[in-house]
Amino acid sequence: MFVRNCWYVAGWDYELTADKPISRTVINEPIVLYRTADGAVVGMEDRCCHRGAPLSLGRLEGDDLRCMYHGLKFNRSGRCIEIPGQDQIPATACVKTYPVVQRHSWIWVWMGDAAAADPALIPPAVGFDDPDWILGSGQMDYEANYLLINDNLTDFSHLSYVHANSFGATEIWARTRPNITRLERGIRVQRWISGGVSEGVTRADRRAPDGMATEHWQSYDYLAPGVLLMQSATYPRGAQETFGGGEPDPSVIAPVSRNFTSQAVTPLTDRTSRYFFSWGPHASEGTKETAEAMMKVANMAFTEDRIMIEAQQRTLDTTPPRKDILTSADVGPMQMRSVLERLIRAENAAVAAE
Ligand code: FES
Ligand SMILES: [Fe+2]
Repeated sequence: MFVRNCWYVAGWDYELTADKPISRTVINEPIVLYRTADGAVVGMEDRCCHRGAPLSLGRLEGDDLRCMYHGLKFNRSGRCIEIPGQDQIPATACVKTYPVVQRHSWIWVWMGDAAAADPALIPPAVGFDDPDWILGSGQMDYEANYLLINDNLTDFSHLSYVHANSFGATEIWARTRPNITRLERGIRVQRWISGGVSEGVTRADRRAPDGMATEHWQSYDYLAPGVLLMQSATYPRGAQETFGGGEPDPSVIAPVSRNFTSQAVTPLTDRTSRYFFSWGPHASEGTKETAEAMMKVANMAFTEDRIMIEAQQRTLDTTPPRKDILTSADVGPMQMRSVLERLIRAENAAVAAE
């Protein structure tokens, strides 16, 4: 089951060039994406209404797309506007279109009721055009259901074990708990990490002079269907107390360093997912090279996650189902799952009432 009335990241905007359509599968639905002359993105079902050939193998003709099997041509609204060798075009000759918005360097596709597609529901990710951050980007395909990736990203206790090498994470991530609050379409996870010199701080983010005692602030929102927006900051020791354990104010105490990451988990099918991510330093504290170094670490870390989660998926698929024994670290994953279940229930109730 998937939330339908939701914006899903279908790709980076740089993946879609002006001259060629691309195919994407989102929640089991094949979609063709292409650009019109004005730079807008059209999303339609990647299945010709004639005999089912993929339109992503088609040819762009201006703002129209021609199926390259028998030549039916469709406009950006999905209406068939030409059938070679036939004058009459049936009114039913059309393909479904999807609302698409380009924002924050991502292409977002609305998978539900088109009338309900509100761009205000697009999570406030940070794109490459934001002057405050210098970001590198990447993506990774998973042979796993997206909920297992959501579980991973809403519980950082795994850093101590999965990312001891890449992020240099210590045991403190597993041995302390963040504050978690509910949001309308997700959760907010916040914590301070302290207890040693640069302890728990990601290796790529270490700008603190050798021997400087620091504390690490981390705050992220995790929003439906699986979008993580996180700011991390390193402060001199004592900041946590100054801010009463709450959110720091960089105008009161200058941070040693800050970084931002936007991440999106998109279910392609029931058992495959695509993970998009960007990460980098604050523009006043780093360079393109810093972002590149951070992306190397991120790729290493996210591969560690992928190996574990794909293995977990295989185990779950090959053993009889049984109840998980949850721990206090599972508050984030359980709350996020319940947010998605609530959204799905509300959609089903609205459909049933029609
Ligand atoms: S399948 Fe597209 S024109 Fe025949
Ligand atoms: Fe991880």
